[in-house]
Amino acid sequence: MSISIKQLHPLFAAEMRGADLAGGISAATRRAIQQAMDDDAVLVLPEQRLDDATQIAFTSLYGPLELAPPVRGKTGTFIDGGRIRHREIFDVSNLDENGRILDLDDQRRAYGEGNQLWHTDSSFRQKSATWSLLHARVIPPDGGDTEFADTRAAYDALPQAMKDRLDGLIAEHSIWHSRAQLGGYMPTEEEREARPPAQHPVVRRHPGSGRKALYIASHASHIAGWPVEDGRALLRELLAFATQPRFVYTHKWRTGDLVIWDNRCTLHRATPFESAHYVRDLRRTTVIDTRVEVAQESCRVG
Ligand code: OGA
Ligand code: MN
Repeated sequence: MSISIKQLHPLFAAEMRGADLAGGISAATRRAIQQAMDDDAVLVLPEQRLDDATQIAFTSLYGPLELAPPVRGKTGTFIDGGRIRHREIFDVSNLDENGRILDLDDQRRAYGEGNQLWHTDSSFRQKSATWSLLHARVIPPDGGDTEFADTRAAYDALPQAMKDRLDGLIAEHSIWHSRAQLGGYMPTEEEREARPPAQHPVVRRHPGSGRKALYIASHASHIAGWPVEDGRALLRELLAFATQPRFVYTHKWRTGDLVIWDNRCTLHRATPFESAHYVRDLRRTTVIDTRVEVAQESCRVG
């Protein structure tokens, strides 16, 4: 079956049909996906019948996979094994280890709700991420869309004076900064130590397209070397600029959709749904950015 591509938004995001990932893909299809990702940054592949192992195998074609942090139970303490056996799969659902909808006071609910803030995956890690791949297993009847923003287009649209101002700036990112914004999740001291902050340039060149992109997120807490409040204000301004409706594509999920996004040049956020009544089960694999140190060396640290 031949591959077809349809544009989903004037600036970015495309849908690709004709590639059956579970059946194993040819080198040509693999390159077509790479090319579509470099061009469009968000790629929707509908009707994919993937199980966890197949999703992991497909993701591995594009680099090493990040491992999900250890599973925590209802009260926040670590439990043995979760709902999903593979550490390469991030459980993006509202289900507990027995497959039941999480109680309203379950810590995992508070942690997951952090996804409703604009972010890019793993920017709080020094070895951050290139692509995330999210597969829809069970979708609620209403809501629970995912919104994406194009931070290459946003960078291009910035006034020149702002581009000059951003040149060489480094932001600090921490998972605990984004989680603190919603207030419901309290990390232990051990958790804080296990996941320390990371620093990345605010503007980076996206290697596949050669275009510059804003690298910001709700994880970004301040600008290195600046008074915290000044940095926070700038990051807030950039996030608001980059997520204007003209830069945003909203994905309405269908069961079987695999959506791939490039964390280096997009932002995303979950939108609410009736999570006490309906199941939403999506599973994410994430590719580690092994080039990130190179990018780091080429920027000036203030
Ligand atoms: C993620 C994420 C958004 C959603 O999986 O990284 O942010 O809509 N998901 O579930
Ligand atoms: Mn995410």
